[in-house]
This record gives sequence, structure tokens and C-alpha cells, in this order.
Amino acid sequence: MIQFVTSALRDIKTVGSVVPSSPALSRALAAGVTAARGPVRVLEVGPGTGPVTRELLKRIGPDDVLDIVELNDDFVRHMEEQVLAPWRAAHPGRRVVLHHAAVQDADLRPGSYDFVVSGLPFNNFDSALVESILRSYIDLLKPGGELSYFGYVGAKVVKGAIGGNAGRANIGRIRAIEDGLFAAHAGTRTIVLPNIPPAEVRRLRKR
Ligand SMILES: C[S@@+](CC[C@H](N)C(=O)[O-])C[C@H]1O[C@@H](n2cnc3c(N)ncnc32)[C@H](O)[C@@H]1O
Repeated sequence: MIQFVTSALRDIKTVGSVVPSSPALSRALAAGVTAARGPVRVLEVGPGTGPVTRELLKRIGPDDVLDIVELNDDFVRHMEEQVLAPWRAAHPGRRVVLHHAAVQDADLRPGSYDFVVSGLPFNNFDSALVESILRSYIDLLKPGGELSYFGYVGAKVVKGAIGGNAGRANIGRIRAIEDGLFAAHAGTRTIVLPNIPPAEVRRLRKR
């Protein structure tokens, strides 16, 4: 927790929150992987200190692959030392790879993932970056694959109100991009109240 707060205060634009996701939000984001059958490839983007990763690690089997992409140096170190090293020691031979990169620069194979689970704080980003990352997620999925991601309830209203004309316009474009993809890819949404703040999880199935 202290690690998360320290990094959040230093890099609030890319971290986007001062506390990690709750167990309920982490489970909601990882929920699709529970229903999976057969070997699957999973991509997690923005693990932070790893609450969602821990849920994914519980769900993957011996033949599955988990790729994780994290930008922040401190979180990468934390993930390697505190989350992945103990897990690898208990599960030798499993394929879990942490990529230290921005997702927009990471070397990932299009059309190769059954699940993409994103923790990125899109409402903090420029709309052009949100559009390019969300479209790249869809490209990375196999047909029928699932994208899950979240946003904080009310965040767009607050950002629109405090961000001036430019901030309001940016949030409006982000909303339009998300809603377009939601409609195009059979989206569902779930509100998760036990989180600080409450969050909305969106799940999209690639058509
Ligand atoms: C809101 S935090 C979520 C952390 C964690 N998944 C959780 O739910 O508690 C966002 C995370 O995304 C990472 N991040 C932000 N921009 C990124 C990017 N372009 N590529 C990869 N990771 C990024 C941040 O460093 C941070 O770890």
C-alpha cells in the first residue's frame, strides 16, 4: 500500500489513483478468465502493485501464458520481487512474462490474446492516446476474445467540470471512443461499489 501511494503521488497522471484496486474490483476485472477453458493467453496492462495480477495468477493453468506490461520502474521492481518471484518459485515452468514498457511501445503479437485486462487510468490521458491504446487492445485479441477495463464512477463528470474547455472536450472524446467500441463489441458493464472510489468495469467481446 505504501509503495502504491508513494508512486501515485509522484506519477499521478499515469497511476491515476492513490490506492490499489480492491479485491472486489480485482475479481471483477479478472472474472472472464475464470470461465476460460483450454490453454489461454492473457495480457494484463498496468498491474501497479499487483492486486489484479494476483487474481489472474489464481486463475491461469499450467498451459496458459500471462504477459504483463508495466511502465513504472518502482512497480516493475515490486512486481518482480514481491509478486512474481514467489509465484514462480511455487509454479516452476509456468509462462508469466513482465514487460517493462509503455503498452503503446511493447512488442506484443496482434490477434494472439484470449483476454486483455487493463488497469490504465484512461480519463487522465489525452483522447488520441486512449483511442490508440483501446484500438490496439482490440487488435491484440483473437476474435471472440475479451477486453476488460475500468473507470471510476463519476470521474468523467468531475474531470469535465474541473478541466476547463480543453479538459471537457478531451473527456467528451474519450466517452465517444469508449461508447463506440462498447457498442461495436457487445459490451457489458458492472458497477463495483466496494472500491475507493466505486468503479465501473467494462467488458467487451471482440466481434
Ligand atoms: C490505476 S493504476 C492500476 C494499478 C493496478 N492494476 C490496480 O488496479 O491497483 C494504473 C497502472 O497503469 C500503469 N500505466 C500507466 N500508463 C501505462 C502505459 N502506457 N503502459 C503500461 N502501464 C501503464 C501505471 O504505472 C499503474 O501501474
